Amino acid sequence: MAIPRQRIRLPKSAWWSAFRGMLRGDLWDGPDIQRFESAFADAIGAADAVAVPSGRAGFRFLFAGLQLEPGSEVICSAFGYPIVPFLVKSLGYDLKFVDCEMQTLGMDPVALEASISDRTQAVIATHLYGVPCQIREIAELCKSHNAALIEDCAHCFGASVGSQKVGTFGDGGCFSFETSKVINTMGGGMVTVRDSDLGKRVRDAGNQEPRNGMRWLARRLLKTSFEAAVTNPILFNLGVYPALRLAPRGRDGEDRFASGYHGDEVSMAGKMGRYTNYQARLGFKQMKAAAKQNERRTANAERLISQLRDKATFQEPAGPDVRPNYMLVTTLMPNLREVADQLLRVGIDSKHLYMRDCSRMFDKTAEFPNAARAEREALHLPAHPQLSAEQIDSVAAKVAAVLADQSSIVAT
Ligand SMILES: Cc1ncc(COP(=O)(O)O)c(C=O)c1O
Repeated sequence: MAIPRQRIRLPKSAWWSAFRGMLRGDLWDGPDIQRFESAFADAIGAADAVAVPSGRAGFRFLFAGLQLEPGSEVICSAFGYPIVPFLVKSLGYDLKFVDCEMQTLGMDPVALEASISDRTQAVIATHLYGVPCQIREIAELCKSHNAALIEDCAHCFGASVGSQKVGTFGDGGCFSFETSKVINTMGGGMVTVRDSDLGKRVRDAGNQEPRNGMRWLARRLLKTSFEAAVTNPILFNLGVYPALRLAPRGRDGEDRFASGYHGDEVSMAGKMGRYTNYQARLGFKQMKAAAKQNERRTANAERLISQLRDKATFQEPAGPDVRPNYMLVTTLMPNLREVADQLLRVGIDSKHLYMRDCSRMFDKTAEFPNAARAEREALHLPAHPQLSAEQIDSVAAKVAAVLADQSSIVAT
């Protein structure tokens, strides 16, 4: 049986709960939002948490709450999710990039130190794929330059550095509850803050959004049901895997299905509105179960990495007291396309081009060599928590065989 790159689950009783919410009249408003927010703040160790309609909307509300002056300098890592720098730019800030480092693939504190100045009003540090970046060092630099620190925790619910959970090192943290994330409420997110006044301003910004309606809810349910179906092992093997094998490359040789089975847009479309009581109910339940899921995900990731560490380079945590959640297992493959193609042939679906060297989207002459390399080489192997130890061993054996084959091609 071929193994899909990720497994997306339809939240338990999503359809039934929507139906009940309709009958009870508490789909949009109700006590579950506040219950989820306060449980989330407790779980992270933040002063407050505000539920938002998406991770990107969380950034927008957080910027509104931070009240930076127009034109303020905001620094992002060159390697990351494109919507974040696009949003910074669209809000009228002076966007500046620094390079990433190759261990965690997060912002390089040495590069930040060389770039941060008293002009810098905010820094956005992203914890990629479930592995925290060097946030302690970044937080120190922000503190000494009096710059606000925002953590992008879209991938990192539950991960920690020392005794602290990510999302508590800066002024604010943004989590995403999109379908592929650790908590999946079919969209949505959470902003954590350390100052309750900032939390209030974020909440006020969110409350100005209009309510979503039944069409929106139906679309979210259908989209998530579709994703759950195509990543279900049986349906994946019956339809998606053969289709991926046959799929022609795009005109420029780019694999259209590299990062997902359908397009991922750099846009705010469908990502605004208000977070719903219905989603909060789904999120609260999943949050309670997330520690166990993260344990399984981490066990699978560590099992896979330990079998391949001497054969490939992996994204790794930056110290023994860093606890990742391994939302994705990430290797760096110099000949990524060939490896991905060969893996697919032997039944291992993998993912790449999820994050980008964002600097190149704004300035074709920008040079951030680590970000460029990370975009070229980051390949995500399947290690989701639903895979058994035998399946992980089989992924490891197949990856090892493909790598051996590749090195014999290079040698001849
Ligand atoms: C690193 C990162 N930041 C931010 C976001 C935006 O989250 P959302 O899609 O909930 O707006 C994503 C989404 O995948 C992401 O991967």
